[in-house]
Amino acid sequence: MTPRLTIIVATDARNGIGIRNTLPWHLPEDLAHFKRTTSGHPIIMGRKTFESIGRPLPQRRNIVITRNPGWRHDGVESAPSLAAAAAMVGDAEAFIIGGAEIYAAAQDLTQRLIVTEIQHSFDCDAFFPTRDARQWQEISRETHHSEANGFDYAFVVYQRLAPELSVASS
Ligand SMILES: NC(=O)c1ccc[n+]([C@@H]2O[C@H](COP(=O)([O-])OP(=O)(O)OC[C@H]3O[C@@H](n4cnc5c(N)ncnc54)[C@H](OP(=O)(O)O)[C@@H]3O)[C@@H](O)[C@H]2O)c1
Repeated sequence: MTPRLTIIVATDARNGIGIRNTLPWHLPEDLAHFKRTTSGHPIIMGRKTFESIGRPLPQRRNIVITRNPGWRHDGVESAPSLAAAAAMVGDAEAFIIGGAEIYAAAQDLTQRLIVTEIQHSFDCDAFFPTRDARQWQEISRETHHSEANGFDYAFVVYQRLAPELSVASS
C-alpha cells in the first residue's frame, strides 16, 4: 500500500512558518481552509507542532512523530518516524501538517503541496524548507485579501512533476 502524502503549510513571504512554537500570524480564513481540507483524513505532525496545538484535532486521525517511546496523549497515536507514520495510514490520503523538521523529512515523499502563501514578512524562527521549483507545477491559485491584517494571501496547490519531466525541463 502506498500512502498519498500531501503537505499543507502556511508560509510568509520569506518561507517563515513559526515563531516560539506558535504561528506568527492570526488568519482565521487559513484555519478554516486547513479544517476544510484535512477533515476526514489522517494528519501527521511533529511532537512540537502537537504541543503547540495542545489537543488532538477533531474529525481526523492524529499521528504525532516523536523519538520518545514513552510519549502518550489521549486521542493521539504516536510514531517513531515519518516512515512509520506513513505505514500506519495505509493507502489513505494523509496530510503532513508540520512543523519545520517534519516538512523537511517529508518533502521527498510527497506528491502534492497545499500552501497558503502570505504576502507579508513576519519575525520567524521556523521555516519551510527551500524546494526546487523545477520539480513542482502550480495547478491552482486562489488569491484573497485579509481586511483585518491588510495583506494578500493565496491558497496554492502544487503537484510534483513526474521525474522524467523535471529532468527534461532542467
Ligand atoms: N505555518 C504552518 O503552516 C505551520 C504548521 C505547523 C507548525 N508550524 C510551526 O512550526 C514550528 C514547529 O516546528 P519544529 O520544526 O520546531 O517542530 P516539529 O517538526 O513540529 O516537531 C519536531 C519534533 O518532532 C519529532 N521528530 C522530528 N523528526 C523526527 C524523526 N526523524 N524521527 C522521530 N521524531 C522526529 C521530535 O520530537 P521529540 O523531541 O519528541 O523526539 C522533534 O523534536 C512552530 O513554530 C509551529 O507553530 C507552522
